[in-house]
Amino acid sequence: MIGDVIGDVIDDLEATWRARHSARAFLPEPLEPAVLRRIFDVAQHAPSWCNIQPWRVVVTSPPTTAPLATALQDAARAGRVNPELPFPAEYPEPYGKQRVACGVALYRAMGIARDDRAGRYAAWLRNYALFDAPHAAVVTCDRRLGPYAYVDVGVWLGYVLTAAAALGVATCPMASMAALPDTLRTHLPIGAHDIILFGLVLGRADPAAAANAGRTTREPVETNVTFV
Ligand SMILES: Cc1cc2nc3c(=O)[nH]c(=O)nc-3n(C[C@H](O)[C@H](O)[C@H](O)COP(=O)(O)O)c2cc1C
Repeated sequence: MIGDVIGDVIDDLEATWRARHSARAFLPEPLEPAVLRRIFDVAQHAPSWCNIQPWRVVVTSPPTTAPLATALQDAARAGRVNPELPFPAEYPEPYGKQRVACGVALYRAMGIARDDRAGRYAAWLRNYALFDAPHAAVVTCDRRLGPYAYVDVGVWLGYVLTAAAALGVATCPMASMAALPDTLRTHLPIGAHDIILFGLVLGRADPAAAANAGRTTREPVETNVTFV
């Protein structure tokens, strides 16, 4: 009996996770405030080392989001890329091929050819338009805590993405936003001790957008997990 209930829960979770995917084109309407709040409210149940709950998050709604997107696009065009948490300097194999496959899936869905540099640049710039999402979240963590706290924030992100998907809310986590910390700090209340880890956009996905048709794949569990 209990086994049956647990079976239902894991089946629901798996269905939610299989259906979730990053959205890169959003409808302009904001989420209902109660829905937006609920995503972050339930994610408060995420575990963290010593239960320090180190995620700190600033969430925008209209009319705050659009001026932020304009400023981010200006800064991106000007090349003011300066992440506080260093981005990977390289992607050795097998990560390189995963990264390429992810880009191919997106560009193919958008009809952008491999040698179309202008098309790829425009697609990159869409990150800084926040994919027209009505809500953007900037996720930070007190830098004095160091990398283990960033692990906690990653766990929390999984909870947020799951909660949003379960509520039918589209999301895209965005390291690209973290590339422009000066702009984020100018527009949003971000603590002096906090390091900007990543951004996140939320809203309703535009079902007609080609950018939302791309899908990524996953390796079989044996690739990542060794059972001994
Ligand atoms: C921490 C993090 C940062 C990400 N940054 C970006 C980003 O800047 N731009 C983007 O388009 N997607 C970004 N993504 C989305 C990933 O590309 C996406 O999760 C991955 O390709 C798997 O696809 P899926 O989310 O559709 O399952 C990010 C994801 C994570 C978890």
